[in-house]
Amino acid sequence: MGKIILTGDRPTGRLHLGHYVGSLRRRVELQDEGDFDRMFVFIADVQALTDNADNPEKVRQNIIEVALDYLSAGLDPQKVTLFVQSMIPELAELTVYYMNLVTVSRLQRNPTVKTEIQMRNFEASIPVGFFTYPISQAADITAFKATTVPAGEDQEPMLEQTREIVKRFNYIYGDVLVEPKIMLPTNSVCCRLPGTDGKAKMSKSLGNCIYLSDSSKEMQQKVKSMYTDPGHLRVEDPGKVEGNTVFTYLDAFSTPDDFAEFWPEYKTLDELKDHYRRGGLGDMKCKKFLIKVLDKRLEPMRQRRHEFEQDIPEVYNILKKGSEAAREVAAQTLHDVRDAMKINYFDDMELIRQQAEKYSNK
Ligand code: TRP
Repeated sequence: MGKIILTGDRPTGRLHLGHYVGSLRRRVELQDEGDFDRMFVFIADVQALTDNADNPEKVRQNIIEVALDYLSAGLDPQKVTLFVQSMIPELAELTVYYMNLVTVSRLQRNPTVKTEIQMRNFEASIPVGFFTYPISQAADITAFKATTVPAGEDQEPMLEQTREIVKRFNYIYGDVLVEPKIMLPTNSVCCRLPGTDGKAKMSKSLGNCIYLSDSSKEMQQKVKSMYTDPGHLRVEDPGKVEGNTVFTYLDAFSTPDDFAEFWPEYKTLDELKDHYRRGGLGDMKCKKFLIKVLDKRLEPMRQRRHEFEQDIPEVYNILKKGSEAAREVAAQTLHDVRDAMKINYFDDMELIRQQAEKYSNK
């Protein structure tokens, strides 16, 4: 059995640097390392609709945004199957069967869903579809027999739920499904990149994001107004590096090569940090370096995005082709699932023969 990767994003907004360090960058590496037999990356529009039922246009507009973000970040449709969740109706069918294997109280215990319910003020009236999305996510993962799901730690409860469903399914119906493992970001900074305002998380609603699709000018403005150390008032003052967003971003993005190229006075980030701590190093100098580092990462993405933007019908075509290929895989799993669950009445000649015999002896 192969090593299979599956992961995806809800199309509720453009992807930002938090997505890039937390998952996109790793996906491109995984694609290029070629250690996996197959890799699926998908746009989870059905899941996005679980809390945006009244706003289908938002989801619709963001399909192409996320697709452009994927392609410009370097995901290659020759190596990765890119698809759209709603184009695979088998996922909905699988979800229905899994619903019988999960209790309401088990869903209520999911910490990620709990937080999301609070954030959306859903306490009084949770849409059933939202409440049950971990089951639908288990369908996404298992339909492709994924062994590995690269995702942030907030997705661990979904993976745990998925493994429970797999175990229960295989126990009742026989060995059909595969238990997946999460693959967490390797670098702790990458688990949660703060927003430009220093708040814990980059998030669209807080307006503290640098988007992959931002122009260089937009990015520069955001970096220049970035939160640093509020106690570092004059250049001579000693500065704090911990909790200083500029340094957190440098942790996530800069390499010794960047120093050699843009700021040879320092060999490593540690040397720069030491100087900042001692005092005598201004914020703006550090920000200008960060701008160069980010531009170096983002410029190739902007160029690829620009190319794909010239042929949007082709981007939709990539998603369509990917969805067709993904659907074949999901359909095969559904075939096995139906067999195992004994809901294959018309294909089971032995069943038909037995029933005929039973009634002919009456
Ligand atoms: N829950 C994920 C998110 O919020 C999106 C998602 C849906 C997903 N199905 C998945 C991620 C399956 C990994 C595997 O971004």
